[in-house]
Amino acid sequence: MKKPMQNEHWGSRLGVVLAVSGSAVGLGNFLRFPAQAASNGGGAFMIPYLIALVAVAIPLASAEWALGRYGGRRGMHSPMGIYYVASGRRPFFGVCGGGLTFTAFVINMYYLFVESWCALYALQYLGGLLAPLGLGFSLFPNQAPGLSLDSAAAYQDAFLATTGATRDRALFGANGASVLGVFALCAIANFWLIYRGVSKGIERFCKAVAPLILICSIIIIFRVLTLDNPTGKEGQSLLDGLGFMWNPQNAAETLKKPSVWLAATSQIFFSTSICTSAVLCYGSYVQAKRDVALSSLTSTMTNEFCEVCLGGLMIVPPAIMFLGAAASEKIGSVFSLGFVILPNVFGQMPAGQFFGFAFFALLFFAAITSSISQLQPASAFLEEAFGWTRGKRVLAVALAELTGTFVVCWFTEGLVALDAFDFWSANFMPFLCALVQTTLIVFFLGRKKLRDELDSGAIIKTSKYVFPAIAFVSLPYLAIVFGFWLYGEFVNKCKEFAAKPGSLTSEIFLLAVFAALVIVSIFTVLRWKREERLGKEKGANL
Ligand code: PFF
Repeated sequence: MKKPMQNEHWGSRLGVVLAVSGSAVGLGNFLRFPAQAASNGGGAFMIPYLIALVAVAIPLASAEWALGRYGGRRGMHSPMGIYYVASGRRPFFGVCGGGLTFTAFVINMYYLFVESWCALYALQYLGGLLAPLGLGFSLFPNQAPGLSLDSAAAYQDAFLATTGATRDRALFGANGASVLGVFALCAIANFWLIYRGVSKGIERFCKAVAPLILICSIIIIFRVLTLDNPTGKEGQSLLDGLGFMWNPQNAAETLKKPSVWLAATSQIFFSTSICTSAVLCYGSYVQAKRDVALSSLTSTMTNEFCEVCLGGLMIVPPAIMFLGAAASEKIGSVFSLGFVILPNVFGQMPAGQFFGFAFFALLFFAAITSSISQLQPASAFLEEAFGWTRGKRVLAVALAELTGTFVVCWFTEGLVALDAFDFWSANFMPFLCALVQTTLIVFFLGRKKLRDELDSGAIIKTSKYVFPAIAFVSLPYLAIVFGFWLYGEFVNKCKEFAAKPGSLTSEIFLLAVFAALVIVSIFTVLRWKREERLGKEKGANL
């Protein structure tokens, strides 16, 4: 079998933990989680959420790190190669792995776009912050520096101008230049970082950015905790804000809905980055003698702290404290919460330009450490499939990603394309991936190999619990939740998409991406098989 061109590794244990935590902590923690919780029963949502964390995320995270390293030791870094070797060189799993590279790859097509909104908002606030020094600026013509507008509707308009959500192709008009310009800068930064490589690019960057994320979070949390009832109105205290987010609403009703279980489990996948190919790929760069058992647990817990403690505190409570009931209907929508309601809150807060800047800088830094992890599996895929140099791979990944983002930016009316991309890549595919991966572990890799891999270099001994947890808890849990959801809601969801023209085009595009990944995987896996046969024949002839 062809040898990998360069066998890269993480430089240090701290580096890999920060890189995986960087991949995990992102927009999912600070925007998606609060919106999902608030729209799925508040505190009641936390029951399926915590069950999914224990039943799926913790065991699968350990197994995924171990599976990744198992493949990495054999020169494989993408799900295609890792599944192929871990299943005992079975072509079927190689092709499944190739198809499932789709997840992170497609998530990146819209994630990068949303990341650029965060950069744009942070820059707008910076423009306002610098205004007293005479250095103020605004990225939009006819808008004063800073984001301090005079009505809720004005914040909504600013968001529509940034996203082009009013009509298709809106971003290709005059106002789109700033948005697309900031997007281009973000995209270049992402591609440059993966071009620099695993330890010199991704690891160094994640180490540099982690303190910035921490500082920005402390600033925001301090602000939230020191604000009590800023408007003096009834029902708008800190406790009311916390209650809105955390009090269980209709617990019995909520827990009966398959969609709530699906939402909670998808949230866990999206937020921990497991079953998206990112953790598998990062795990493959861990050296043989380094720990994976404690590292996987540390990064999962770091992610949960940022999600539940920070994300659960810094977003919804201030929205209720400043805007009260007016905010409550819109809180369930991820983008309205982050890009309409919160700017409105900052606009009413003393020193709001500063806190707005800190908040969007936090989102941007958290997002970029996630988006680079979405690109790496595709680059590893191309290395295995074609043996290309890093430069060529990054160029190909960049072109493919930008084509996808182009579709997202074209069909912007109601953000239909973004929704379709999100649904297939972030809700549907991770489930499929989890089912394939758990089946592979339980029936093909087996208990012994999983234990050996987890024990190699382990600082804590968890290996004997992981296999039974996956076999007897994760796999049945996933099959039940996914089965119920497919049965009860899948067809309706497809009909809903089919009714929107932009969404149909997006789905055809996504199908083409998936087909391309599967076809390339079939050829690659057949080539590997051929090379193995030739190798064996040569050995027999000697
Ligand atoms: N975990 C990231 C977040 O919470 O924003 C999102 C993400 C990163 C999804 C990497 C998929 C992925 F491969």
